[in-house]
Amino acid sequence: MKVMVVGGGGREHALCWKLKRSPSVSEVVCAPGNPGIARDARCVSVGAEDIEGLMRLAAAEQPRLVVVGPEVPLVLGLADRLRAAGFAVFGPDQAAAELEGSKSFSKQLMADAGVPTARFEVHTIPSLAEQTIREWGAPIVVKASGLAAGKGVIVAHNVEEAVEAAHDMLAGNSFGSAGSQVVIEECLIGEEASCLFIVSGDTILPLDSSQDHKALLNGDKGPNTGGMGAYSPAPCVTPEVAQMVLEQIARPTIATLKARGIEFIGTLYAGVMLTSDGPKTLEFNVRFGDPECQPLMSRLQSDLGEVLLAAAEKRLAGVTLDWDKRPALCVVVASDGYPESFEKGQAIGGLDAVEKAGATVFHAGTAEKDGAIVNTGGRVLGVTALGGTVGAAQKTVYAALEKLDWPGGIYRTDIGYRAVAREKGE
Ligand code: AMP
Ligand code: GLY
Repeated sequence: MKVMVVGGGGREHALCWKLKRSPSVSEVVCAPGNPGIARDARCVSVGAEDIEGLMRLAAAEQPRLVVVGPEVPLVLGLADRLRAAGFAVFGPDQAAAELEGSKSFSKQLMADAGVPTARFEVHTIPSLAEQTIREWGAPIVVKASGLAAGKGVIVAHNVEEAVEAAHDMLAGNSFGSAGSQVVIEECLIGEEASCLFIVSGDTILPLDSSQDHKALLNGDKGPNTGGMGAYSPAPCVTPEVAQMVLEQIARPTIATLKARGIEFIGTLYAGVMLTSDGPKTLEFNVRFGDPECQPLMSRLQSDLGEVLLAAAEKRLAGVTLDWDKRPALCVVVASDGYPESFEKGQAIGGLDAVEKAGATVFHAGTAEKDGAIVNTGGRVLGVTALGGTVGAAQKTVYAALEKLDWPGGIYRTDIGYRAVAREKGE
């Protein structure tokens, strides 16, 4: 079958890479794609947020299945439009995408569903937000309610920092209209994990676990980013924890949406904190994690095209997933300056040598210019490898990265450190 993938980042590269290797898939078309994706799919330059352009492309290409990678087109209602035009779509409708598009909607739904999550309040008036922050004290978390590419969350270690963040967001200075509502949350303590589910109506199929490193710097220090690296599986997600996340978080969330007349078809991503009180939900996303998708797709052995089509056509019941037992680890190479400003158009060399050293390079923010690969985004590459252990996969990736020739590229040197420490019995 022909599959159309929407998006052009590292997640979409991993999806196209896996789809191309799926026996059920004969052709992959990606809009807009990137130079890395072009090795695995035919790229068409229609932007991932150009809803009308994407509708025209689908009409021209007539794919058997459309897979929507990023959250923005989902929140804009692309899946609704495609379904109305008769296409099989993997990705939730606009109403269900609000789980990611609005943190205040998502938190309220969790409260209604009895899903464990941090205590919270939603505010639109700066003085009231400030009052809550002063009452609750630090540490405390301030979030822009709308979409902010993973950067709209401030974990404040003192009250003044939190007050300033809330005022900035509500004044529209940071995150624009995404900050017109803020969510103030109790700060949870524990290890974080990403628990993803392929959902189709009442059927919820868990993916293997993964763990992301959201902070910019080693030791999980510095500002939050979209994610600087990830690995799968995450040893902290034991079978018991996975079962708790399925029963206490995923099922009641999907059931509560359904009770409101909202059906979910797509990926439900629960970011969870494993607290001493059990797993608690940090956030929901309505798509594969980026970069979690890179190690997950590296490990998935099932036919991805078949699984996503079954979900899109509401016949997911009975489908199971096979995984490579070996862990996979992905290190993100970002442009120096990310998540703030950075210089675009720098030539990136050594990509073939990185792959010859045993890693797969997923492209995220790249373009081709005069025959060279250049950076165009904050997160640029996701260098990924499998290994007998997380430690072995980590070694392969960092050895491969030695071959990268890009002085303006930065990456963390400790991705997977918690799992590696566990493996060493520390
Ligand atoms: P979110 O986009 O809501 O997942 O937040 C991004 C990151 O901020 C999470 O991955 C956590 O590292 C951190 N975070 C979010 N909410 C909390 C919380 N209530 N307590 C502690 N850390 C949090
Ligand atoms: N890696 C975090 C996310 O995809 O939201």
